[in-house]
Amino acid sequence: MNLILLGAPGSGKGTQALRLSKEFNIPHISTGDIFREAVLTGTDLGKKAKVFMDKGKLVPDEIVVGIVKERLEKLDAKDGFLLDGFPRTILQAFALKDELAKLDKKLKAVIDIEVGEQELIGRMTGRRVCVDCKKVYHLIFEPPENQDYCDACSGRLIQREDDKIDTVRNRLVIYTEQTKPLIDYYKKEGVLHSINGEQDVENVFKDIITAIKGEYE
Ligand code: AP5
Ligand code: MG
Ligand code: ZN
Repeated sequence: MNLILLGAPGSGKGTQALRLSKEFNIPHISTGDIFREAVLTGTDLGKKAKVFMDKGKLVPDEIVVGIVKERLEKLDAKDGFLLDGFPRTILQAFALKDELAKLDKKLKAVIDIEVGEQELIGRMTGRRVCVDCKKVYHLIFEPPENQDYCDACSGRLIQREDDKIDTVRNRLVIYTEQTKPLIDYYKKEGVLHSINGEQDVENVFKDIITAIKGEYE
């Protein structure tokens, strides 16, 4: 089962991806997580990516595409994968199409999680992430018991650098200009499912499962 999660920044891709990857037993491939890890460990990739991420800009296609191709060729993606945050430009979508053809794989479904702009801003600015286990919270929608520490591992909770309000606004502009056109692209490919993302996490998950199951039957 090969899936893509589309959706604006803060729409709940990461939240749903955790559940979907368990449900279907497929690896969750998040380009944002890959870059954040590289930034944390201070690799060359991390140093390059940080410059773009901190401004809310996209990392250049040639960097991202190489990483995803390599990741899709790993053994654990042999029977399926869940892409979160890739593709994000038309060029990335074309590159993915070529790579899938080369690997003789087909996309099962592209899930677009739809959430309005005000809600997106609230979700991103209220998000907190554990520095140790990376668990994601929201100060209002999924609050930790103590606002500074992780319930799961007692690690410190921080705000992502790109979740500060000015960067959030830039990310939304970039999303509209560069990523939104992918909705039409995948609609034409006949694989798009639009899901109402302004429901609680469980109901969004149920709707995604229903959409995907419709694809098997
Ligand atoms: P990336 O990490 O992919 O960030 P993003 O797409 O901006 O998305 P987010 O991770 O912010 O949101 P999400 O949809 O995962 O929401 P979440 O589930 O956390 O990318 C970061 C950067 O890396 C980019 O800006 C770019 O620089 C670079 N990059 C990455 N991929 C790239 C690519 N392909 N090309 C070029 N550059 C790339 O939820 C958000 C919050 O809401 C959480 O607090 C959560 O608890 C809460 N929440 C979730 N669901 C619900 C719900 N149903 N109800 C209430 N609250 C909810
Ligand atoms: Mg995410
Ligand atoms: Zn933790």
